[in-house]
Amino acid sequence: MPGQPGTLTAPAGAAQVTPARKTLLIVYHTHTGGTLQMARAAADGAGREPAINVRLLHAAQAGPDDVLAADGMIFATPENLAAMSGLLKDFFDRSYYAALDRINGRPYACLVCAGSDGSNAVRQIERICTGWRLRLIADALIVCTHAQTPDDILRDKRIDPPDLERCADLGAAFGAGLAMGIY
Ligand SMILES: Cc1cc2nc3c(=O)[nH]c(=O)nc-3n(C[C@H](O)[C@H](O)[C@H](O)COP(=O)(O)O)c2cc1C
Repeated sequence: MPGQPGTLTAPAGAAQVTPARKTLLIVYHTHTGGTLQMARAAADGAGREPAINVRLLHAAQAGPDDVLAADGMIFATPENLAAMSGLLKDFFDRSYYAALDRINGRPYACLVCAGSDGSNAVRQIERICTGWRLRLIADALIVCTHAQTPDDILRDKRIDPPDLERCADLGAAFGAGLAMGIY
């Protein structure tokens, strides 16, 4: 019955409450463009969800305030010398303690662009995110560009459409899950 304890009927004339838009922060770094293409594809995928505000930030521009304001995060990096890129590490160094214990349980995913491997960059990011007590929502997505000679490594990258599609799908699933409150 309306008005009984436990009923959720809005009073006549009450404004409709629309749920707040959720923010997905994507922090990336790249040397030769591959990771940026992956991050943009993920951002486009997430952006298909109208209830999601996507923020795509270069690692040098991102910091703890951006982390605290995000409902979910994607970290995107090339693998360099068996590690995440230095600028993404710098972002974590600048943000880690300011956000520690303030973002527990928030969802995250990671994208890695690698010439041949990528697994150490993933391991490093996952270790930091375990410290942050974030929740991994999908296996790390590694795209291999097969760049192994100096010439290939230094050349601008073009990520194949099927790999960009995988990034877009991850972004879309992340956005939909955030919007539905699953994550
Ligand atoms: C200094 C340097 C170190 C690299 N070390 C690795 C590595 O350890 N493992 C790997 O798989 N690829 C390595 N690569 C290759 C890059 O990961 C690959 O070219 C990737 O596609 C670059 O992504 P980006 O276009 O976003 O910079 C290295 C590239 C550079 C420039």
